[in-house]
Amino acid sequence: MRSMTRLQRAVENATCQVCIIGQGYVGLSVAAAAAVAGMRVDGVDRDAERVKALAEGHNVVPGVADSLVSLAIDTGRLHFGTDAGVAAGADVVIICVPTPLVEHRPDLSAIESAGRELAAVLKPGSLVILESTTYPGTTESVLRPILESGGRRCGRDFLLAYSPERIDPGNVKFGLRNTPRVVGGVTPEATEIAATFYRHIVDQVETLSTCRAAEMAKLLENTFRMVNIALVNELAMLCASQGIDVWEVVRAAGTKPFGFMPFYPGPGVGGHCIPLDPTYLSWQSRRDTGRRFHLVELAQDINEQMPTYVADRVVEALNDQGKTVKGARILALGVTYKPNVGDMRESASLQVLSALHKRGARITFHDPYVASITVNDVRLRRSALTDRALSGADCVLLLTPHAAYEPGMLVERAQLLFDAQNAVPSRDQPSVVRL
Ligand SMILES: NC(=O)c1ccc[n+]([C@@H]2O[C@H](COP(=O)([O-])OP(=O)(O)OC[C@H]3O[C@@H](n4cnc5c(N)ncnc54)[C@H](O)[C@@H]3O)[C@@H](O)[C@H]2O)c1
Repeated sequence: MRSMTRLQRAVENATCQVCIIGQGYVGLSVAAAAAVAGMRVDGVDRDAERVKALAEGHNVVPGVADSLVSLAIDTGRLHFGTDAGVAAGADVVIICVPTPLVEHRPDLSAIESAGRELAAVLKPGSLVILESTTYPGTTESVLRPILESGGRRCGRDFLLAYSPERIDPGNVKFGLRNTPRVVGGVTPEATEIAATFYRHIVDQVETLSTCRAAEMAKLLENTFRMVNIALVNELAMLCASQGIDVWEVVRAAGTKPFGFMPFYPGPGVGGHCIPLDPTYLSWQSRRDTGRRFHLVELAQDINEQMPTYVADRVVEALNDQGKTVKGARILALGVTYKPNVGDMRESASLQVLSALHKRGARITFHDPYVASITVNDVRLRRSALTDRALSGADCVLLLTPHAAYEPGMLVERAQLLFDAQNAVPSRDQPSVVRL
């Protein structure tokens, strides 16, 4: 590519101008990290309110550390706007827009519209990187032709690569810097320059031979997790019927130093990655080979049964205490999809509560991160977590064990504690029932 040496040098020296399309969780994290690493960054988002707040220095994106955003803004190198036209001056453009499923099909319209805007302005000699999660072939077969529709040729006028974001919201051990990056380019030079860019913000970069391999690697990671969760969920149902403690079983298997990795059962699979990303694989398999991706579809089926299964077990636990679910006061603790984050997307908790509510239970809830929820069209406001609320409930249902919940206090106060996540260590407590 013409001007490749100039681009390579600018990226190496961190003197490149960067434009990041989409300022959600993924885009803002990368934008802030790049600015802190010394690069000049324009963060572009079509959401004018989000842009206004960020430009005023307010971090409105849950999960991205306030300290990182302030540090980046204080460098004076990070600016926000709604006009993707600023990409005209960028050496590196990164696309971090949503890729939702609509009626079980990938919706790439945000990538397509970002691509169209870029095609009109792309600077010759620039590098475009796609970070959104998607099915293999998107970068080369969907994004590339759109970018070329402005008359520029990939490999000759601009470079193109794919690098999936692998961040795990709320993970205190692994963040952007110490989670290795996977990068695959359309051409070797695209791979190399994209890898050089990421080495400024990530400790370890793994280069792959193609974009497709990098796209598939991301889907393998999330599918692996989803399938293994389904395995242990199904095992949990069998263990319960046999009077075996599934948590003890997983802990024991986990002592094997090779060939096993522990996964844990729970009320369902939440968040907007693990439940959704494997569908890209099953959708693509059906579309391109006519075959079902059996394991993905089966695992999804099993995981989808879990909220109803947990509700059934709560009904059974009440019954063992001589109570019916109809009219029972159930205090649910934790409704986000995982502990210590405020994200409700695809949270299984609401489905568990919906099933119990339909059977006549009187539901209240507490979550430090959530002020209100809607269960079967009924809006519930968060209750205070008082001794009275805990002891007055027929069942305290621990769905998401946020750090704010002190297990000892729950065991002491609750008449019946249903622990869906093995958060309460004490065994042999008649008032505690575990999934
Ligand atoms: N959040 C995660 O933990 C995570 C982890 C790995 C991968 N991903 C993937 O990364 C991608 C982005 O995820 P996210 O969580 O940051 O999404 P998000 O919904 O938090 O943010 C996306 C942003 O892009 C903006 N946007 C949409 N279309 C646009 C366009 N054409 N031009 C400019 N802005 C546009 C939206 O207004 C929004 O602010 C998705 O593909 C997601 O699956 C997310």
